[in-house]
Amino acid sequence: MAGRLSLGLLLSALFLSITVCHAAPLEFMKRNSYTFILDNPYGDAIFELGDVSYLANTKHPKAIVSAECEPATSIPITVIKTDVPNISEDILKSVIASYLDVDDVFNYDFLHGLYVSSTVKASLDPTAAEYLASFNTSFVFVDESVSAEGSFSKLTLSSPADLPAGPYLAKLGSNSVSFATVYRLYPDTYRTFLSGAYDTNDGNGSHSPLGVFLPKFWDPMIPVPSRIYYLDDDRPLAGERVAIKDLYDVKGLQTSGGSQAWAYITPVADSNAPSVQQILDLGGVVVGKQKLAQFASGANPWDWQDEHYPFNPRGDGWLTCSASSSGGGCSIAAYDWLDYAIGSDTGSSMRRPAAVSGTYGQRPSQGMISLERVLPLGGATDTAGVFSRDPYKWIKFSKAWYDPSLHQDVSITGLSPLEVPETNAFPKTILYPVDYLPLNNSAAEPILQEFIASMSRIFNMTVEEFNFTATVQNWTDPIASNFTTLTGATSVINRWSAWDVIGRKLVSTWKQLFNGRFPPIDYARRPGWVTFDESVVNQTAYDAALVTKNRGVEWYEANLQYSTPESCSESVLLYDIGTGGLPSFRERELNESPDASYLAVLPETAKITGANICPIFGCADFTVPIGQVPYQSNVTYHEEMVPVTINMVVKRGCDFMLYNMIEKLADEGVLKTVKTGRTAY
Ligand SMILES: *[C@@H]1O[C@H](CO)[C@@H](O)[C@H](O)[C@H]1NC(C)=O
Ligand SMILES: *[C@@H]1O[C@H](CO)[C@@H](O)[C@H](O)[C@H]1NC(C)=O
Ligand SMILES: *[C@@H]1O[C@H](CO)[C@@H](O)[C@H](O)[C@H]1NC(C)=O
Ligand SMILES: *[C@@H]1O[C@H](CO)[C@@H](O)[C@H](O)[C@H]1NC(C)=O
Ligand SMILES: *[C@@H]1O[C@H](CO)[C@@H](O)[C@H](O)[C@H]1NC(C)=O
Ligand SMILES: *[C@@H]1O[C@H](CO)[C@@H](O)[C@H](O)[C@H]1NC(C)=O
Ligand SMILES: *[C@@H]1O[C@H](CO)[C@@H](O)[C@H](O)[C@H]1NC(C)=O
Ligand SMILES: *[C@@H]1O[C@H](CO)[C@@H](O)[C@H](O)[C@H]1NC(C)=O
Ligand SMILES: *[C@@H]1O[C@H](CO)[C@@H](O)[C@H](O)[C@H]1NC(C)=O
Ligand SMILES: *[C@@H]1O[C@H](CO)[C@@H](O)[C@H](O)[C@H]1NC(C)=O
Repeated sequence: MAGRLSLGLLLSALFLSITVCHAAPLEFMKRNSYTFILDNPYGDAIFELGDVSYLANTKHPKAIVSAECEPATSIPITVIKTDVPNISEDILKSVIASYLDVDDVFNYDFLHGLYVSSTVKASLDPTAAEYLASFNTSFVFVDESVSAEGSFSKLTLSSPADLPAGPYLAKLGSNSVSFATVYRLYPDTYRTFLSGAYDTNDGNGSHSPLGVFLPKFWDPMIPVPSRIYYLDDDRPLAGERVAIKDLYDVKGLQTSGGSQAWAYITPVADSNAPSVQQILDLGGVVVGKQKLAQFASGANPWDWQDEHYPFNPRGDGWLTCSASSSGGGCSIAAYDWLDYAIGSDTGSSMRRPAAVSGTYGQRPSQGMISLERVLPLGGATDTAGVFSRDPYKWIKFSKAWYDPSLHQDVSITGLSPLEVPETNAFPKTILYPVDYLPLNNSAAEPILQEFIASMSRIFNMTVEEFNFTATVQNWTDPIASNFTTLTGATSVINRWSAWDVIGRKLVSTWKQLFNGRFPPIDYARRPGWVTFDESVVNQTAYDAALVTKNRGVEWYEANLQYSTPESCSESVLLYDIGTGGLPSFRERELNESPDASYLAVLPETAKITGANICPIFGCADFTVPIGQVPYQSNVTYHEEMVPVTINMVVKRGCDFMLYNMIEKLADEGVLKTVKTGRTAY
């Protein structure tokens, strides 16, 4: 920036003014100065302040004001809004302190410039001007209501720019000043994302992908906007940063399903999935698309080919992230700068990633939220969930997101209409299934026993040991009591939707494009799709499977988990979808040891895995972290901790009752917010 700037507002002839500025040369400053890095392909600017990287949405700025400015330049600025007449050093100090307190994007480097906007007639006190001089603040924008004198250039805006408070990149040009939203770029050090994304701000509700990565560590960079922008926004999720499993359509972004072949044959999404739209409407900010086991399969880490398997921050850093919402669970365990990750659960894909990352994650009741514009696995078994570290934040998000207007139609679920009462009609019984518990690691079981004791004390519940397998097999209905029939129906549901919507199209298109070749896809789907036989699995079979499923659900809700006048769900059933407190690793051979475990092991005397209970019976199944146990790592050769979690299952529709229960358990200190990093506690 040269010594002289000449600016004049062209907004209104009446208020036309020419400002001659004497801005301090940047070279002498200690405050880290603006360093332009590159224009990204979407026309936005990447810049650095010191060693922190930022993105500024300069193509579609938040606000533009007509002005004349020579020469053109860009400066990081901070917008402050005030309603006090005397803007003193103390006022500025406390505003800045409050910004630093709530935000990780803003820092002192954004005090290169300041924009003081005031609803009342105000002036910048000499103490404030002196304070700004201590930051070498060289440029001050003010509303007409604000007077300011000091050792900075000043530009009075004849009409206030319509901007929330916070950091911006101001671009002074020959005929305008624009204020671009800034995003801090965080490296995705655990490689849980496919790419970052940000609001295009084109008035079209579109998002742009961020194709920037950190070459030193190969990490994609993820843009997060300042939290200050949302301080006056009272929507439930205002400013909350949300990552999305790459199964959901986000307008402007490719939906890959974790497959480059699928990305090759499909266009960028031209609309948001309703479930994503709901997040945006609630004020949430989409920050990127995350990795998943390809097409939401249950592929083990060592079977991933197209994407590189994400890393789990827990323990020795070599633990599994499970599948399929692998990126989501591990990212929430990893990053304080990320608030939520959206995943999906067909057979375990939210609940098991939550278990191995020691975070909160749920499979809601069947039919809870629209999965339109989400790549399916099984139309009547798919569900959508959210990962979080904090039980209160998790509940707040879930209750707002799962709006009744987004419930699925009975034609999709094949079940009775979903009703989700907001109620404290808590269960009376804790069901402890002897065919699934105790936890496999004897050091972990006392943690579960303590949790059970607390729950039974707080809710005056009685613990009932029972045999789940025997109970179901004892039902007099030949269909509902037959696990072979029930799992067969689930398998038809899961295979048909994925083939009908993805497989058939991918295989036939690829064949046509590449001389009869089969598409390059991971092993998890290849054999099933090579031999897919529509004379066996088809729409007729699918429809019949829905009838079978409904029969199972009705028996379950009449005989196992049912409502009473006092309880939405008379019982809460506990089991573990994880490894019972043993480490499970991304490297196959490490799981062979007796002190480690594979995932999804069928307990010796059970007919189905615990994970399969709710996909079959429609119930709500939440993973909650309850503790951690040590193990000696064969990767770090050091003692490490592995999370212990438990699954809480209630009758379909009793989700909000279960949230209220979990909230109470958090109030009582039984459930806690987990930390990011190596250990959850
Ligand atoms: C302001 O600039 C002076 C040199 O002109 C420098 O000594 C001082 O450290 C700078 N202050 C900040 C906060 O950058
Ligand atoms: C503004 O506040 C400062 C510090 O509190 C004080 O010294 C100054 O006199 C005040 N100015 C006016 C005009 O009230
Ligand atoms: C908005 O979207 C429409 C269609 O999706 C497109 O034609 C138009 O160019 C977009 N507008 C902007 C400002 O990008
Ligand atoms: C606890 O539950 C038992 C029945 O299981 C009941 O008899 C007792 O009154 C309850 N106690 C309280 C404090 O609600
Ligand atoms: C549960 O019941 C099944 C079926 O009767 C039986 O085979 C199994 O051994 C029982 N499991 C336990 C742990 O009692
Ligand atoms: C099986 O059903 C019979 C008759 O309803 C009942 O008496 C028995 O307790 C049941 N057994 C199990 C294991 O649920
Ligand atoms: C369950 O159903 C299968 C056919 O789907 C049948 O072969 C099997 O005998 C049934 N099992 C029982 C215990 O009835
Ligand atoms: C659909 O599948 C069923 C078996 O599940 C089979 O009997 C039927 O013939 C199939 N229909 C067609 C049109 O292939
Ligand atoms: C580590 O390796 C030793 C020796 O092979 C084995 O005994 C032990 O179980 C392993 N530990 C874990 C946690 O897998
Ligand atoms: C418990 O852990 C052992 C040792 O890894 C394993 O062989 C067994 O399958 C596990 N059982 C369950 C139910 O996970």
